Amino acid sequence: MDAVNVAVRLRPLLPREPSDAVANWKLAGRSITCAKVPNASFTFDHVFDQTSTNSGVFEAIAKPIVQSTLAGFHGTIFAYGQTSSGKTHTMMGSNREPGIIHLALDEIFNIISECSHRLILT
Ligand SMILES: Nc1ncnc2c1ncn2[C@@H]1O[C@H](COP(=O)(O)OP(=O)(O)O)[C@@H](O)[C@H]1O
Ligand SMILES: [Mg+2]
Repeated sequence: MDAVNVAVRLRPLLPREPSDAVANWKLAGRSITCAKVPNASFTFDHVFDQTSTNSGVFEAIAKPIVQSTLAGFHGTIFAYGQTSSGKTHTMMGSNREPGIIHLALDEIFNIISECSHRLILT
């Protein structure tokens, strides 16, 4: 994995948002294009569409970082975006759909529990 990975996640429109709000924006693989602006195509390491799930995002981009931290490498995962873009949904999630933070903690404890040579303090 490269030192820095940039992923974009598009969320579904909210009921209060006009249905044509993103009509000019199209996803193609890892790129997002705007039909209204010539040559406006932006390519990222990952693009997750409106059907993506927190666990899908976790598996694709966060899990490898969590695993490498337990192998001794520093790692940071953060969400950046304007208000209401979906940061809290992605990072915290809900009881129904746990977010990256919860999934990362699960992964850490899973790895520790499978580590046969771990130090047990009594
Ligand atoms: N991927 C998603 N699928 C469904 N609803 C989402 C998604 N991302 C965000 N939302 C909803 O959009 C609204 C704004 O998201 P939120 O995570 O609170 O944004 P932020 O933290 O960036 O301000 C919330 O009602 C949230 O439930
Ligand atoms: Mg928030």
